[in-house]
Amino acid sequence: MSSSVRKQKVRSPRGPTPASHALYENPRLYDLGFGFRDIPRECDGVLAIAARHGISAPRRIVDIACGPAHHLREYARRGLVALGVDVNAEMVDYARHLNKQAHVAVGLRKADMRRFHLAAQVDVAQCLFDSFSHCLTDADAVATLRRAAAALRAGGLMILELTHPADYFEGDEKRTVGRWIQHYGDVTVKTRFQTTAIDPVDETYVKSMVIDAAYKAGKKKKRIVDRQLHRMWLRGALRNVVAQSGAFEIVGWYGDLTPKVPLSMRPASWRMVVAMRRRKARS
Ligand SMILES: C[S@@+](CC[C@H](N)C(=O)[O-])C[C@H]1O[C@@H](n2cnc3c(N)ncnc32)[C@H](O)[C@@H]1O
Repeated sequence: MSSSVRKQKVRSPRGPTPASHALYENPRLYDLGFGFRDIPRECDGVLAIAARHGISAPRRIVDIACGPAHHLREYARRGLVALGVDVNAEMVDYARHLNKQAHVAVGLRKADMRRFHLAAQVDVAQCLFDSFSHCLTDADAVATLRRAAAALRAGGLMILELTHPADYFEGDEKRTVGRWIQHYGDVTVKTRFQTTAIDPVDETYVKSMVIDAAYKAGKKKKRIVDRQLHRMWLRGALRNVVAQSGAFEIVGWYGDLTPKVPLSMRPASWRMVVAMRRRKARS
């Protein structure tokens, strides 16, 4: 037997249930911490991907694990029927509050993505910002895909946005930054974000996040610390769960929320976006 010392394996901690994340239970701070996204541009990209795959004028869209529902308000302003599901009660309340403030009609439902139902089918479903990686197991993913397929009309499109595979592996320069500061009128928010405890055996990782909020008007500082266990979705596993679902065929892989950037190892390809078409139900 070799006498060399092996590094001891550190197991990924089993995280809390998706419904109980400190981050999502403080939705305003989550929203401020990640408030750098260009939502209209992301919506343009999702619609352009849908158009690339034959859906040029969608009328109805669902956002699965919609969070604060910024995309949905943007779609509603553009005339689409916009629907969202999210498992977290605080997040859904917060999204409803933003809908009221914006005077925009968006249909929201508190539901688990593995079990949700819609009353009428949609043309496009999206699941953005790594929300699908809350599906830790193949069974979670297959259940989510089947619910998404039931929500979509035949030929409808499902779009997932996930971490770029290269970001999980050491040696490759990360495509995303790990800390940033956002300034708002009443508060400055510092966010630290790390992909930790990468476990290529279980195909999981831990998203470690710290958000510090310093308010201007003498309000007490607030800190949120959250560690979330996520699935490390790579292409092979995605192909496998899509095939297992029996509900979709993958029609495109992109490196950003736009059909103009193919998925590759080039720096411009900094996300992994999967477009899949809902199959016709077997008779
Ligand atoms: C990183 S946030 C992204 C929110 C939104 N997709 C966006 O792009 O802004 C992930 C969201 O997934 C939701 N979530 C986690 N597990 C879920 C589940 N099993 N079913 C539905 N939503 C879930 C959380 O409550 C949270 O709002």
